Amino acid sequence: MSSAKFDAAVVLRVEGLTAGYGGSPIIENVSIEVFAGKITAIVGPNGAGKSTLLKAIVGVIKVSGGHVFVLDDETTNFAPEKMVRRKLAYVPQVANTFPDLTVRENLEMGGYTRKDGTAERIVELCELFPDLHASLRRKAGALSGGQRSMLAMARGLMLDPAVMLLDEPSAGLSPLLQTALWEQIEKVAATGVGICVVEQNTRRSLRHADWGYVLVLGKNRLDGPAEVLLHDEEVIDLYVGRLS
Ligand SMILES: Nc1ncnc2c1ncn2[C@@H]1O[C@H](COP(=O)(O)OP(=O)(O)OP(=O)(O)O)[C@@H](O)[C@H]1O
Ligand SMILES: [Mg+2]
Repeated sequence: MSSAKFDAAVVLRVEGLTAGYGGSPIIENVSIEVFAGKITAIVGPNGAGKSTLLKAIVGVIKVSGGHVFVLDDETTNFAPEKMVRRKLAYVPQVANTFPDLTVRENLEMGGYTRKDGTAERIVELCELFPDLHASLRRKAGALSGGQRSMLAMARGLMLDPAVMLLDEPSAGLSPLLQTALWEQIEKVAATGVGICVVEQNTRRSLRHADWGYVLVLGKNRLDGPAEVLLHDEEVIDLYVGRLS
């Protein structure tokens, strides 16, 4: 797959997705594209349906209309465990690590379907996430909030995904730790993984993203290069706020 937006492959394509929790749809006719090695940010007000969109993509909730393609294959309504094998990793906002297991055990569980190369992959990820290296034998529950977010991402990377969906990875972190986390997300993207990140901190996520989608009331409102959205009057007034 290719597109005119970037000189990179489309690793995730969502076309006209409609989904919800049994009542009326929460997201309606939503379309997005995620590119290899690029960061795509989904922004929008509370309750816009950002987390619901991720859950629908990864098969946690059922899709009632539209299509999901990962790499070149259609994966609409595949179960989450099947999506992992299709090279899509999903890091939910909560319950994304096992607090009673060590960092290493968490990583091993993240790679549970690997036939081989688990130890080697952990070494690679320790290079990518130096903070985790020193903590391999610590319980995940004893890590700081920033380290736990890094571990959740590293776990998701154990199976060499082509796409990674991150739901509010920097929620609850101090500004300094948010900066460190975003630098880490950029490092992961630089390895070729297509990142789709949902964040409440609109300004910060658009600063780091390559492309942004604004979602309002479960529908696509507008999208464009993140840099352009950051200076778009409507986006600033509604979601970013003016710098004083
Ligand atoms: N498990 C659920 N069952 C029923 N309705 C739900 C469920 N989860 C979310 N909703 C509803 O779906 C709508 C969208 O919620 P969602 O969590 O996707 O928004 P969001 O954009 O991620 O918001 P936030 O920025 O607060 O995380 C809300 O009206 C919410 O009440
Ligand atoms: Mg959410």
